[in-house]
Amino acid sequence: MSPPASRAHWSTRLAFILAAAGSAVGLGNIWKFPYITGMNGGGAFVAVYLVCIAAVGLPIFIAELYIGQKAQANVVRAFEATHRPGSPWRFVGWMGLLSAILILSFYSVVGGWVLDFVYRSLTNQFAGHSDEEIKGVLGTLFSSPGRQLFWHALFMGGTVAIVLQGLKEGLERWNRILMPALFVLLLLLLGRALFLPGIGKALTFLFVPDASRLTAAGVLEAVGHSFFTLSLGMGAIITYGSYLGSREALTRTALSVAALDTLIALTAGTVIFSVVFTYGLDAGSGPTLMFQTLPMLFARLPGGYLVSLAFFLLVTFAALTSAISLLEVMVTYWVEQHGKPRKQTALVLGALVYGMGILSALSTNLLAHVKLLGHTFFDLADKTTSSLTLPLGGALISIFFGWVLGPQAAEEVVGPRFKWAARPLMWTARVLAPLAVAVVLVRGLREW
Ligand code: PHE
Repeated sequence: MSPPASRAHWSTRLAFILAAAGSAVGLGNIWKFPYITGMNGGGAFVAVYLVCIAAVGLPIFIAELYIGQKAQANVVRAFEATHRPGSPWRFVGWMGLLSAILILSFYSVVGGWVLDFVYRSLTNQFAGHSDEEIKGVLGTLFSSPGRQLFWHALFMGGTVAIVLQGLKEGLERWNRILMPALFVLLLLLLGRALFLPGIGKALTFLFVPDASRLTAAGVLEAVGHSFFTLSLGMGAIITYGSYLGSREALTRTALSVAALDTLIALTAGTVIFSVVFTYGLDAGSGPTLMFQTLPMLFARLPGGYLVSLAFFLLVTFAALTSAISLLEVMVTYWVEQHGKPRKQTALVLGALVYGMGILSALSTNLLAHVKLLGHTFFDLADKTTSSLTLPLGGALISIFFGWVLGPQAAEEVVGPRFKWAARPLMWTARVLAPLAVAVVLVRGLREW
């Protein structure tokens, strides 16, 4: 099927790789990975996560790119275009849309927290302040509904504003400079962390597995996070792949994005845990972890004011490029499938997701006591996606690739030079990846 003439395409291959990396690298790496690792006892959790990235995440990343590129269509139509019209597989696309809405609703709240920390850095509320004062900063945000909603609105507004402009101008300009800048800043922080007395304990905590500290729910969280962090299982990568003209180097793109994503998560984790073990903090303190540890480090650094400002600005950017990809999944669908104008669609969907996110923004204050299935709205949106719809979506995409598209797709993906890799890839997609996810889902959900 030839692509509709009106469909935009990435201007260069680099722009596409950077955008895919921009989707993958975000709060999942810098905020979520360290705190869930801390809550799940460290090394064994990290080991499961790493195995999942390589054995499950990577093949599914390749499959999603392939499906999107081949279909040249939104997440729902992609399954019909590569299978047949009316294919029941389009259900996987709908589940992807649901995941995108749920994730963006709480993701934009955390994006708002980061914006608050940009403001706090700007107004010098970390450098020269005591640890106790710094620890309390996030608490004052949490207890203020108005402040939460304000930053949440600003973050969502920024996301919509960029998506409004369409693919090209929106994404490509900034990605090229700011993504590498974030990486360099993290490496500089790592350089400082290596001289903290807690570094040894941090490395042991992260990289020496202690299986006794891992539960079935923890394994599910590691598997789920490998999907979350690579933006898999919900169509973001299918959608980005659909804006790719020729089938160039899908495998190489998947490999480099997964490697970069993992590297950034491990670097952020090492810095954060070296602070934790140097200043005797609680590794399992939860979602507040990044927001309490790093400012303590900044407060002690020469030039800490600027470092803190640069860091939170760059994290804002990383979060924005992920949020954009989430909104883009929905916008591409509604524009193509229902013929709506792009601008109007982005505005309406942004407002809708913002509205849903209000429930998450108020989960730390006015609605803190409202529990559904034992969770606040914030936790529920997070858990339902990471521990259910993303792994399920990923497993189904894998099965679709392996069984429906089959050997020919696998061969096309790896190309003539790596022909030997086609069969292993196909069987991983057919059996290994779905089976691993199924086992983990069934066991983990029982403890949920
Ligand atoms: N991968 C992003 C992160 O790590 C989050 C995300 C999930 C983005 C799913 C798009 C789709 O922050």
